[in-house]
Amino acid sequence: MRSNRLLTLDKRLSAVAGLFPVCEYGVDIGADHGKLSAWLLQTERCERMIVSDISPLSVQKVGQLMDELDLCHRCIVREADGFAAIDRPVDAVAVCGLGGKTIADMVKQQPKLHGNPALILSAHTQIPLLRRTLVEHGYRIEKEVIVSAARRYYNIIKAVVGTSDYTDKQIQTGFHVEGSSQKELYAYYQWRYNVEKSKQTEQGQILAWLKEEMEQCGRL
Ligand SMILES: C[S@@+](CC[C@H](N)C(=O)[O-])C[C@H]1O[C@@H](n2cnc3c(N)ncnc32)[C@H](O)[C@@H]1O
Repeated sequence: MRSNRLLTLDKRLSAVAGLFPVCEYGVDIGADHGKLSAWLLQTERCERMIVSDISPLSVQKVGQLMDELDLCHRCIVREADGFAAIDRPVDAVAVCGLGGKTIADMVKQQPKLHGNPALILSAHTQIPLLRRTLVEHGYRIEKEVIVSAARRYYNIIKAVVGTSDYTDKQIQTGFHVEGSSQKELYAYYQWRYNVEKSKQTEQGQILAWLKEEMEQCGRL
């Protein structure tokens, strides 16, 4: 049955949507349920979307949601592996909820995309690897937003085509990181510090960098 209901997004996907530019063509890779794309279309942040997933079941779910919300005429739903879904110039590409290595491999395999879109990426793991891959493959990290949800923190990275100088510390601790407050940012670095410390191969230098970031938050 068709419906006009406006979707609501959880905190993580709201932060992803907040980094999307108002644009003609958006892309959602690994869309699964398709809620991010549906919201971007409903709010007219994106005029059109390519919505893709490698799983046929997810593609079916997206199709059903778009049909229910009467959005099919504004989106292309595709079964595809990574950036292979993009066959035309686009303005912004989201890849969220996948492992950092999977997203980094997509960037490595196809660093140049039609239209030089902004990338909005939320990896669940291996975020330093993803940052390094971006800066070494023609992207500049414009902003990172930290979101706390379900007793953990998520990094959402916005990268645009360009070059920048970077340090090993930035690869580990982030570029232009923003939380909703300094207190939240401090709590995020503390959480990262504890995660890092619990690893069997403890990295003294990384711990020292995270401590510096915590001190910086305390001072502001
Ligand atoms: C955990 S879901 C994330 C859904 C949504 N993006 C979110 O953040 O809530 C991950 C999705 O990525 C898809 N996926 C995994 N590898 C992929 C790839 N190489 N290309 C496209 N989709 C992929 C999976 O099938 C799954 O539906």
